[in-house]
Amino acid sequence: MVQRLRARLDLGLGACVFLFLATSFAARPTQTDPDIVMRESMVTMARQLGVTCTHCHDPQNFKADQMRAHSVAREHMRVTAWLNGRDGLNGKPKIDCYTCHRGEAAPKPEKATAQK
Ligand code: HEC
Ligand code: HEC
Repeated sequence: MVQRLRARLDLGLGACVFLFLATSFAARPTQTDPDIVMRESMVTMARQLGVTCTHCHDPQNFKADQMRAHSVAREHMRVTAWLNGRDGLNGKPKIDCYTCHRGEAAPKPEKATAQK
């Protein structure tokens, strides 16, 4: 447990850059370790928004949640999950951050429909 916490807190900007490059260029086997799965989903999310980890995180403390982008992101994760659920589109098509964001942190909604 202590080890896991430390592993999370030790994540710095270097790790962000490394992960970004690693996931960009390497084909990796499916991961089951929850920490690694979390990090990979973060890397994907950051890429879909065209930002780095520090857009939403204080690299000294990834658990901190005071940044505005962090709370908006959490809301949008909830929206995205709802859209993919049975009360939403039920996975047809599957929605992710890129569906609306198109690689931009603050997307223009009209662009999302224009570039289907
Ligand atoms: C668009 C905003 C955003 C970006 C960019 C982002 N994160 Fe996150 N991150 C979040 C949110 C929101 C949560 C909280 C998720 C939750 O509560 O389920 C989170 C949670 C985490 C956690 C878990 C913290 C904890 O409480 O245990 C880690 C570790 C993390 N992010 C690492 C990263 C790394 C590394 C990157 C860059 C590759 C990154 N994040 C990029 C928004 C972001
Ligand atoms: C249904 C469309 C849609 C989806 C899906 C979506 N977003 Fe957004 N998001 C928007 C729009 C539109 C804006 C711009 C709102 C504004 O500018 O007031 C926005 C703004 C944001 C912002 C604030 C931008 C800033 O200035 O930092 C963050 C952070 C964010 N989204 C994160 C996410 C993440 C992370 C996901 C995926 C889990 C996601 N969004 C999925 C539509 C979406």
